[in-house]
Amino acid sequence: MPDWLLYTGSRRPHDGVDRLPPPPPWRAFDGGPVLPSPEGGSGNAHQATTYRPSDDAVQQVNAALYLRRPLLVTGPPGTGKSTLAYAVAHELGLGPVLHWPITSRTTLRDGLYQYDPLTRLYAAGRDTSPADDEDIGRFIRLGPLGTALLPYRRPRVLLVDEIDKSDIDLPNDLLTIFEKGEYELPELSRRADPSAEVMTADGPGDRVTVTAGTVRCRAFPLVVLTSNGEREFPPAFLRRCVTVELRQPSGEAELAAIVREHLGPLADRSDDLVRRFLERAASGTLATDQLLNAVYLCRHADAEDRRALADRVMPNLAGPVDDD
Ligand SMILES: Nc1ncnc2c1ncn2[C@@H]1O[C@H](COP(=O)(O)OP(=O)(O)O)[C@@H](O)[C@H]1O
Ligand SMILES: [Mg+2]
Repeated sequence: MPDWLLYTGSRRPHDGVDRLPPPPPWRAFDGGPVLPSPEGGSGNAHQATTYRPSDDAVQQVNAALYLRRPLLVTGPPGTGKSTLAYAVAHELGLGPVLHWPITSRTTLRDGLYQYDPLTRLYAAGRDTSPADDEDIGRFIRLGPLGTALLPYRRPRVLLVDEIDKSDIDLPNDLLTIFEKGEYELPELSRRADPSAEVMTADGPGDRVTVTAGTVRCRAFPLVVLTSNGEREFPPAFLRRCVTVELRQPSGEAELAAIVREHLGPLADRSDDLVRRFLERAASGTLATDQLLNAVYLCRHADAEDRRALADRVMPNLAGPVDDD
């Protein structure tokens, strides 16, 4: 394994991220005061500890970490795009993954923060404007993107999941934020006292102080943007990302290793299903987790039922279900 790789895909937690050199000068951020990185697992222990990344994925994760650039992960459904984020957070001890699932209705503002002025009015028990000196931070909750850009000592992992589902403007809006590494909360910055203790995406009990109505990062987060390829991204967007394309594992040994990783002894004598999966994948679109389901299910079925049962949980994802 080359020395420069911090994330290695070993699945064993270590402090390798402490060897991350300072950022290139054009990607240095000076937010503060520095916050300790939150403790705790990535939030998806089984997925994180069973993931076997490709060499290419390992290399590009490291490139994104060194260059302080978002990582755009493309590939068909079920190739492990989302899981990659959890696996990196687990191995490098980067704490809970900040998960931001994207739909066509998602706006940049959803990711940054929510401000709830109505609750604030109720809490104040009146229908006029609340006083400037009250605890406004109780009504501001940072979203996954807003939290990832807090000035943490170690990079947080932000999973912007299925960005290809977004409204057309979101990718470019996001890039602007990632270029600057900061955002403003006008509800705070226009107050006489623009500091407040706000809630974060790590839970209502987690509160951090935002000063001068602006959040600016210190360690740039590892941003994993996933895309099933439903949309092409503009060149300006691609230029600012590190990219990696994940493929369906195509070798019997590679698939068998993934099955064993997930199912341990339950994976014994599942070679016939791995071969059947490959046969079906050659003429259609299948995802690795369909094979995992088939192997699991067939452990509980009679020998004669195996193949029919497996075929039923491994339908072609790109077309109508076929039962051949
Ligand atoms: N390389 C891999 N190693 C281990 N498990 C994998 C791998 N690729 C996919 N999987 C498993 O397949 C399932 C789907 O992965 P997921 O990350 O949700 O895919 P995607 O986000 O690309 O649709 C998960 O259970 C994941 O653990
Ligand atoms: Mg996914």
